[in-house]
Amino acid sequence: MDFITSTAILPLLFGCVGIFSLLKLLQRVRMKAYLRNAVVVITGATSGLGRECARVFYTAGARLVLCGRNREALEELTKELAASLTTKVQTHKPYAVAFDLADPGAIVAATAEILQCFGSVDVLINNAGISYRGTIVDTTMDVDKKVMETNYFGPVALTKALLPSMIKRRQGHIVAISSVQGKISIPFRSAFMDKTTAQGRNPVEVARDVLDAVGKKKKDVILAELLPSLAIYLRTLAPGLFFSLMASRARKQRKSKNS
Ligand SMILES: NC(=O)c1ccc[n+]([C@@H]2O[C@H](COP(=O)([O-])OP(=O)(O)OC[C@H]3O[C@@H](n4cnc5c(N)ncnc54)[C@H](OP(=O)(O)O)[C@@H]3O)[C@@H](O)[C@H]2O)c1
Repeated sequence: MDFITSTAILPLLFGCVGIFSLLKLLQRVRMKAYLRNAVVVITGATSGLGRECARVFYTAGARLVLCGRNREALEELTKELAASLTTKVQTHKPYAVAFDLADPGAIVAATAEILQCFGSVDVLINNAGISYRGTIVDTTMDVDKKVMETNYFGPVALTKALLPSMIKRRQGHIVAISSVQGKISIPFRSAFMDKTTAQGRNPVEVARDVLDAVGKKKKDVILAELLPSLAIYLRTLAPGLFFSLMASRARKQRKSKNS
């Protein structure tokens, strides 16, 4: 009886593993086809995660429009990418569009320029953002406004400006990159986040995860390390415990700040 069971289970197991591997392979093939030649707009491409996203999407064969305020840095990046060797897929010379996301007038002009580059946009990656660290009481409203203009109203305006062309083509993919602080609030990040990239994940790895998430059309992806990821779930599942832990963290940080 045992023998019969094991002989029936083994082929079933191998069959399941085979089907799973085949589905994974199909997903990879579909993802590569989706990204190859796709017109991808990346904001905040002059540094950090945006720069790394530019590299991985370029290597995947996407047609890039790179955005930021620093025109020189954008031009440098387009040259650097065009000079980089990729043998696997055909790559395309990226375009650079410089504008300030905090300036609504500049966004209107930039949208026209972006659409002129390749005639349409398939993927918009809203990555640009500014950082701030401080207590609520010490943070002026000017800082709050500046953060919201760049990190919220700018990306919303750019998305709205590009949406009609996407709707017309019945095709478009919008990505919003945020911080863990975009989901939960933690002590001493009253306006948004701090600039402690060194304490976070490596932008090269995160850029690869962004490429994977876009390729697989995932809806909501947490790319943080284990503790911040757990904190997001804790905030929903056990809010009482979450707020006690945050209060204790705030007390500790205040103590070390004052000592
Ligand atoms: N670093 C982290 O640990 C971390 C963690 C979680 C989430 N994130 C998120 O990841 C994204 C990128 O972070 P990062 O650390 O890579 O940032 P970063 O290195 O500081 O780069 C920010 C980018 O945004 C652009 N930018 C800033 N203000 C702008 C404006 N007014 N108009 C247009 N572009 C503007 C900058 O380009 P110019 O200077 O050329 O304008 C720059 O390319 C942000 O949305 C951030 O919230 C970062």
